[in-house]
Amino acid sequence: MLRQLLTTAALVGSSTALNNGVGKLPKMGYDMFNAFECNYTQTTVVAQAEAMVKHRLVKAGYNSIILDDCYALVNRSANGSIVADPAKWPYGMRNFTDTINAMERTRAIRGRGATNSKTS
Ligand SMILES: *[C@@H]1O[C@H](CO)[C@@H](O)[C@H](O)[C@H]1NC(C)=O
Ligand SMILES: *[C@@H]1O[C@H](CO)[C@@H](O)[C@H](O)[C@H]1NC(C)=O
Ligand SMILES: *[C@@H]1O[C@H](CO)[C@@H](O)[C@H](O)[C@H]1NC(C)=O
Ligand SMILES: *[C@@H]1O[C@H](CO)[C@@H](O)[C@H](O)[C@H]1NC(C)=O
Repeated sequence: MLRQLLTTAALVGSSTALNNGVGKLPKMGYDMFNAFECNYTQTTVVAQAEAMVKHRLVKAGYNSIILDDCYALVNRSANGSIVADPAKWPYGMRNFTDTINAMERTRAIRGRGATNSKTS
């Protein structure tokens, strides 16, 4: 019975899957927090991205930089918006993401910001 259910599930799964290339690979790249914890700035991240390009990791599909945590101040602004830490991003987040996005197809991804699980 279990085998039959599994077979049915597999058939349903294959009939509804789209062959459009989406989701074929997990998100691949580099997670800043895993290596640096909260000790990173724009300079650190850009250096990491440059190394990924140089070592052909971006061409191999590792095209994401994940900040993960600690990019924002601990406290939100008066209106409740997340505030990027100006000490880490002296020219602002737009400048940072434009810099990263100009490097091959590396993409910058923000973490959850002011919901930081770890603060410093
Ligand atoms: C980050 O900095 C803190 C405070 O200086 C230090 O305790 C921690 O070991 C550092 N973490 C890494 C991964 O360098
Ligand atoms: C964040 O807000 C709390 C509550 O208002 C305050 O006690 C704390 O000092 C603030 N922290 C920083 C780093 O501004
Ligand atoms: C919240 O305040 C910031 C400045 O502190 C401003 O840039 C932003 O547009 C405001 N957001 C809303 C939704 O009013
Ligand atoms: C980021 O800001 C710096 C300093 O103002 C500037 O030299 C650089 O061109 C800016 N980069 C982008 C991509 O806007």
